[in-house]
Amino acid sequence: GIVQAETICVVGVGYVGLIQAVGLASFGLKVKCVDLDACKIEMLKKGVPPIFEEGLDEALKETIARGLITFTTDIAAAADADLFFVAVGTPTSERTGNARLDYLDAAVSDIAAVAPQDAVIVVKSTVPIGTCAGLQARLDRDHPAKRLQIVSNPEFLREGTALKDFFNPERIVIGGAGESARERVRRSYAAFEERGVPMILTDTSTSETIKYAANAFLATKVTFINEISDLVETVGGDIDQVARGIGLDSRIGPQFLKAGPGYGGSCFPKDTLALATIGRRHGVQQQIVETVIRINDSRRFHILKRIESAVGDKLAGKRIAVLGLAFKANTDDVRDSPAVDLVHALLEEGADVRSFDPVARLAVDHRSYRQCDSIAAACEGASAVLVATEWAEFKSFDFAAVEALVARRYIFDMRRIVDVTADWVPRWDIERIGSPLMR
Ligand code: UGA
Repeated sequence: GIVQAETICVVGVGYVGLIQAVGLASFGLKVKCVDLDACKIEMLKKGVPPIFEEGLDEALKETIARGLITFTTDIAAAADADLFFVAVGTPTSERTGNARLDYLDAAVSDIAAVAPQDAVIVVKSTVPIGTCAGLQARLDRDHPAKRLQIVSNPEFLREGTALKDFFNPERIVIGGAGESARERVRRSYAAFEERGVPMILTDTSTSETIKYAANAFLATKVTFINEISDLVETVGGDIDQVARGIGLDSRIGPQFLKAGPGYGGSCFPKDTLALATIGRRHGVQQQIVETVIRINDSRRFHILKRIESAVGDKLAGKRIAVLGLAFKANTDDVRDSPAVDLVHALLEEGADVRSFDPVARLAVDHRSYRQCDSIAAACEGASAVLVATEWAEFKSFDFAAVEALVARRYIFDMRRIVDVTADWVPRWDIERIGSPLMR
């Protein structure tokens, strides 16, 4: 059974905070959520999640109905909590490349002002190595009598499967200076521990490093297969089979070996950059990560060049259909999406861009851009159809239905999702990342 060990408060109900709050509440724990954004809090009170995430809508409504989760803009309303999870944003500063910590600093100050003695403040946000130690020193100085403790507890959720990931963690990382604080955080994850999920109890620096190293390693894996994919396109072969062939070696593992337009999203680009910046600041250059960033950035440019040569040197005046805007399937997130960069680059070259995405929205203030509400509408008059996101809808789409609409039957499949065994395929030119040209 569930024992309510602590009164839990989650500060910052963005992506990470909301999943954490709903997840813990689903275990039967009582959770108070605090966010400065009054609009968001009002929506959440009504059970409307501000983000698109499978299962979240139902889980939110259910935990509200059971009285397990409440929402407020007033941190003072959570003064009775003894475990505070902080999940505010740490965006990259345009100026320095460092993660900006102003939201986190402010949130920790607000919590410290209302928190009872011996409260534990758990940092869920991704923060530069050393941040938690710095916060602890500040609390010890500013609120010595309260004996507040900082704990680092990074999250490893993926967008699109965040709730599922929350309930099926492969490990829980808890970093803190004091053992008692770590133990109290560990107890809030008792349900996972009972299932044998490994718990890594460590210091704050190790915990902070684990988060960056995990994302940087995965970004490296993706970049590695993308480079091999470029090779396969030239020397011949099939990148998916190469990936399977190496991935079945358990030392390598099958995941994150899908070739594509390069990694994007709100985490990999930001975290790899932050790790490189941290390395440089400490005089320990992270050369692999720096190379990965460079390769991934230039990949988007190379893709544009490839489209240019397929369409016939000039893109100006040509209509291009971009299928998929989200940085990956099953999310509405377009942050640092390769598809979005491509849209901008195409517009800059003078192309006329028509996009379609089943969920994501992209507003571009340009007279040659239009987001359509169907694949067919986006394909009308197109000299090239670009598949930029791996939505299932694109996999099963019968392109025979748009044959009469397009200016040229040409698909550039950056996700290798289009079914190349379909009967319409021989009537089209199909180019895929990771395969030699099919004509
Ligand atoms: C990533 C991590 O996977 C999570 O563990 C982590 O918690 C999260 O960042 C975070 O730091 O918050 P996410 O950004 O949601 O999650 O996206 P991923 O599913 O990891 O994909 C990242 C990018 O890599 C996407 O652009 C995706 O298209 C690309 N990718 C991924 C590939 O091109 N090939 C692959 O095989 C896998």
